[in-house]
Amino acid sequence: MTAGAPVDRAALLELATSAARLAGAILLEGRRAGGITVAATKSSPTDVVTAMDRAAERAIAAHLLAARPDDGLLGEEGDDRPGPSGVRWVIDPLDGTVNYLYDLPGWSVSIAAEAAGQTQVGVVLAPLAGELFAASRGDGATLDGVPIHCTAGVPLAQALVGTGFGYRSARRAVQAEVLQAVLPQVRDIRRLGSAALDLCAVACGRLDGYYERGLKPWDLAAGALIAEEAGAQVGGLAGAPPSTAFVLAAAPDLFAALDQLLVPLRPDRDA
Ligand code: IPD
Ligand code: CA
Repeated sequence: MTAGAPVDRAALLELATSAARLAGAILLEGRRAGGITVAATKSSPTDVVTAMDRAAERAIAAHLLAARPDDGLLGEEGDDRPGPSGVRWVIDPLDGTVNYLYDLPGWSVSIAAEAAGQTQVGVVLAPLAGELFAASRGDGATLDGVPIHCTAGVPLAQALVGTGFGYRSARRAVQAEVLQAVLPQVRDIRRLGSAALDLCAVACGRLDGYYERGLKPWDLAAGALIAEEAGAQVGGLAGAPPSTAFVLAAAPDLFAALDQLLVPLRPDRDA
């Protein structure tokens, strides 16, 4: 395929799925073998990477490029290569690294394919749960092949809302301040620890809404498409598009209520 050619979304989805399953098996085996330790830190001493994050990204990249050598690739662990095909893969080989490190269950593999300026397909695999979330633009979202939909009609006061926190202390101070204002207004808050799974949780009704400041493209690409294809509105604040600055996802009625609550709190600022 060359840039501008029609996108075969079914083929991309199949390849994303096999790559995610390959990485999931590697990560599960790594956990079973034990001895997972921090290999390096990134934005702060608590922003960690393990050897398994890197091994999973290497396996995903090799798998994708073996099938489609002309595609571009952007991965959390450093892959950033252009490709002439017009398709670019956006990969988080292990979203929820801290959960993985502590042997908590909420970690995932997130793989999306972009073309023509939009995410075309996305998969999020939760290996421990054995669950695969998937979406293809315009074709809806599924969990293990079964169509999923976000929950509509939930009033703010009844909403279970997921969020996450950055790794830097100054940003967390603002996030704590925002949380203090949000918590009394909603049913409860969840901090699951994998942004990709948070977005999928909105998609299948396990969360009513989700917001977070400061995600990276690989945290967001697959999960945002899955949530959107499940009927959620995925955006930024006050009509802005979703971005690394801020992401809000919920059914459109709750999205509006959360937006109204969040905008005056300026949750996209830094201390
Ligand atoms: C993190 C997780 C977490 C979110 C952070 C992300 P990582 O990704 O998605 O839930 O709150 O903003 O950086 O570091 O585990 O790949
Ligand atoms: Ca991540």
